[in-house]
Amino acid sequence: MDLEQNISRMTRRQFVTATGALFVLDSFGPRVRVTRGQLSGKLERGPGLSRVIIDTDPGVDDALALLLAMRSPELKIEAITAVAGNVPLELTLPNALRMVEIAGRSEIPVAAGAKAPLLRRLVTATYVHGENGLGGAAFPEPRTTAVAEPAAELIRSIVKKYPGEVTLITIGPLTNVAAALQSDSELAGRVRRIVMMGGSLSGGNITPAAEFNIYVDPEAARIVFQSGMPVTMVGLDVTRRTALTEEHVRALEAGRGGVSQAAAALARNAIEQHRRAGFAARPNMHDPLAVAAFLDSSLLKWKDYYVDVETRGELTAGETLGYSPRTGGSEQRSATEKQFPNLLIRGSAPTLASSESSSVLRDKFVPNAKVAVDVDSARFFDMLIGRLSGKQ
Ligand code: BDR
Ligand code: CA
Repeated sequence: MDLEQNISRMTRRQFVTATGALFVLDSFGPRVRVTRGQLSGKLERGPGLSRVIIDTDPGVDDALALLLAMRSPELKIEAITAVAGNVPLELTLPNALRMVEIAGRSEIPVAAGAKAPLLRRLVTATYVHGENGLGGAAFPEPRTTAVAEPAAELIRSIVKKYPGEVTLITIGPLTNVAAALQSDSELAGRVRRIVMMGGSLSGGNITPAAEFNIYVDPEAARIVFQSGMPVTMVGLDVTRRTALTEEHVRALEAGRGGVSQAAAALARNAIEQHRRAGFAARPNMHDPLAVAAFLDSSLLKWKDYYVDVETRGELTAGETLGYSPRTGGSEQRSATEKQFPNLLIRGSAPTLASSESSSVLRDKFVPNAKVAVDVDSARFFDMLIGRLSGKQ
């Protein structure tokens, strides 16, 4: 019996509290490994595969991430839940349905989620994703419709049905997941893990401090990081190193089948949209990298951090802070990577006006997240382009 199964018998919070343990789970991905031969279609989807729910705001890179997931036979996609983010929900929901139809996977339930962040007005990213959210790539109106259950309820009911089995792969703002956590205190202990595209320990992309998904709904992100669910954070630190090239687009165009052609159109339009918007850099494959990280965690290097989210800053809301014995004040640095001292997790100094002390958030260092710190970009693109073009 593996460590994950042992842990799933008690809640994650109980495990951490009882043992004072650090997350020592090295592999968090699928329970089955798929060979190249099996990818050409010989592997049946069925029991033993990894149950996932994908929460998304398509979004060009979301659309490619969804196609990658639906072309990955290791996954049993229990649901796709849409959230407002890159564009409003009125567009992210049909865009998710379009991808499901293109992939011929209309059996996957798609649910509508939050129209707006928990406490803030929605900020979109049409400057990156175009007015339709797909970089201007035009696909037919979806024929299928969303299920009646709202996203947060669907997440709760699926996780409750398969306790300890479901991984949430989130590639948009965390509003739906936070809403589900707020309405069900047992949810966090039942989720196997959350693998998110979000955050950064090296500066933001919408402000100097914040990455877009966390910026849009920092309060939701804070609820998630503090929930006790094991978090895997695939942030800008690594996704910035996944630039889409002309060569990738040509490889997709050369692929046969609807998924390859749709992915090629998305990729071509993403490059065009970037050029129109005046970005010097090429589009990054942020969201596909989060899916790939779940499929094969060896594509990335990982470090344990205690991650918290700035929610009050006038300029910094949505910033993710990574505490570890190797960061913070030099007097608190650990001599060795393995040694975890009683590191104080400090926030800002208390103000004169306030009686509440926010200077110490935690009196002991217990990581809550595995953070991706390096990526083998070439291997990632082999997987992404290979699977989307049907060549793997
Ligand atoms: C994230 O923000 C969105 O624009 C992308 O889809 C991705 O999820 C990158 O910061
Ligand atoms: Ca996204």
